Amino acid sequence: MRQPLLLSTLSFALCQFASAQIYWPTYPTYANVFIDPAYVLAKNFSANTATAQQSIMNTALELADQGPWSVVNKTAVAPSGDIHDYLSWAPYWWPDCSQVGNKTELTPEEIWTTCPYKSQDGVFNPDFRLVNNTGDFWAVSDAIFYNALSWAINGSETFATNTARFIDVWFVNNDTRMNPNLNYGQVIRGPGKRMGAHTGILDLKCMTKVASAVLILRDSKAPGWTTELDDQLVTWTKEYIKWLESSPISLEEKAAKNNHGTFWYNQVAALKILVGDKAGAASTVSEFFKGIYLEQIVKGGEQPFEAARTRPYHYRAYNLAAMITNAQIGQFVDVPAFDLKTSAGATIKDALDFAMAQSPKDEDAAELYPVIASVAAVYGDPEGKYAAFLAKASPNYPGDPYFLWSQPLSDSGWAPPVNSNTGASNNKNEGGGSSRSSADRVHTVYFTWLSLFALLGMICFF
Ligand SMILES: *[C@@H]1O[C@H](CO)[C@@H](O)[C@H](O)[C@H]1NC(C)=O
Ligand SMILES: *[C@@H]1O[C@H](CO)[C@@H](O)[C@H](O)[C@H]1NC(C)=O
Ligand SMILES: *[C@@H]1O[C@H](CO)[C@@H](O)[C@H](O)[C@H]1NC(C)=O
Ligand SMILES: *[C@@H]1O[C@H](CO)[C@@H](O)[C@H](O)[C@H]1NC(C)=O
Ligand SMILES: *[C@@H]1O[C@H](CO)[C@@H](O)[C@H](O)[C@H]1NC(C)=O
Ligand SMILES: *[C@@H]1O[C@H](CO)[C@@H](O)[C@H](O)[C@H]1NC(C)=O
Repeated sequence: MRQPLLLSTLSFALCQFASAQIYWPTYPTYANVFIDPAYVLAKNFSANTATAQQSIMNTALELADQGPWSVVNKTAVAPSGDIHDYLSWAPYWWPDCSQVGNKTELTPEEIWTTCPYKSQDGVFNPDFRLVNNTGDFWAVSDAIFYNALSWAINGSETFATNTARFIDVWFVNNDTRMNPNLNYGQVIRGPGKRMGAHTGILDLKCMTKVASAVLILRDSKAPGWTTELDDQLVTWTKEYIKWLESSPISLEEKAAKNNHGTFWYNQVAALKILVGDKAGAASTVSEFFKGIYLEQIVKGGEQPFEAARTRPYHYRAYNLAAMITNAQIGQFVDVPAFDLKTSAGATIKDALDFAMAQSPKDEDAAELYPVIASVAAVYGDPEGKYAAFLAKASPNYPGDPYFLWSQPLSDSGWAPPVNSNTGASNNKNEGGGSSRSSADRVHTVYFTWLSLFALLGMICFF
């Protein structure tokens, strides 16, 4: 009796710890971004974006060192038996082995296939990371995005050829490619047929960043970006769009009223631009703004579907990033959306103003900063309210990557640190970035606990 009690106490403590933390990379990464390639390729950047440009290049180099990435890099295979099928496990679902036989130890496979899984909103099951297609897609989408931007900024061929290589390995090459579907995204484990959940479509929300990167490579005729590779990616993307627009789980995700639905539109609209279907992209974003958007922001700016979640500060910022991305895509395909009002008469700007007025409590506040910058750039900041908020919360914000594509935005008189060639990531220990950097430290600690967790996960005491 004594040992199980100790274990469950320990496990309870760890679970509480895990619930407050979710995996976050150490480099600057954003929920979603779509950038007009013309802005980047014109290179008419204001001088005060120099540090942000350097941060982008530093991040590109850091990520390029870790690639390439592929869905075939995993030890578990989707229930289809095809290693090319993307696989991830639902992050908030935990096994309940109390009714399964009365063994004290089960192998991980036995747990995954025999114990019923139950949802605990916001309580992250860290064994989710044992199959890491999600983390790898996160990394590859950012690697593609930052390397394409760096090619545009710097003109060094390596940035372009790296981008092309990462795209080839993940999407195109026969040995390493991902099948164009998400049939096994966020699979809920347990006995019976293990299919993907609609929430798994969110795993690929950053296809929007990939689309942005491809437009930059294509429009600049970048080295390594061959017609053959472009054609093959377009073929892949058309198949994937077909899946997104017809699969029942994808359509369920599309119908979600909250950020899941918003991010679905990000993906589909951006991918239609990638395949040259601007009209399709326009009708996709219009459908969003005439559809689920209408109920997403109430009078006064609250987002009720996000506020109801366990981490409301995060979810408000998250859905804001997705709504802004839909509006940015809209701008690119001539569907002006930033001033569109919800049924309650509210705009994206109202949602931000409300979100900014809330206390983050124990949540990471940094997720809202790029959103504030985007809103300031689009709606203007005549009273300097947004710049002042950023200057206070994140004094080095003009050195962060998002500052480059959130123009015009005041730099609040910021002077780059003396050793500015290392970019903003180096400034994290001073001022605003520090919340993220202390979060990073916690994440490192968190990962050292991961193996212990995996061990505990094999013992059934829930
Ligand atoms: C470059 O950007 C500035 C604003 O930062 C603008 O006034 C100017 O017209 C732009 N130049 C060109 C050639 O687009
Ligand atoms: C992932 O797969 C790619 C392509 O096969 C390979 O080059 C890379 O080294 C793999 N990475 C890891 C961490 O196994
Ligand atoms: C379960 O445990 C009981 C008592 O400890 C034992 O008699 C029984 O055989 C066990 N059943 C199985 C299926 O292991
Ligand atoms: C998952 O993938 C990301 C990106 O490749 C990597 O940084 C992270 O360490 C991986 N996590 C695990 C648990 O392997
Ligand atoms: C481009 O980046 C490379 C690699 O970091 C660097 O050596 C080079 O000086 C940069 N070129 C310019 C024009 O910034
Ligand atoms: C990749 O697979 C496709 C379909 O099986 C085939 O048509 C193509 O020739 C293959 N490409 C290479 C380079 O092997």
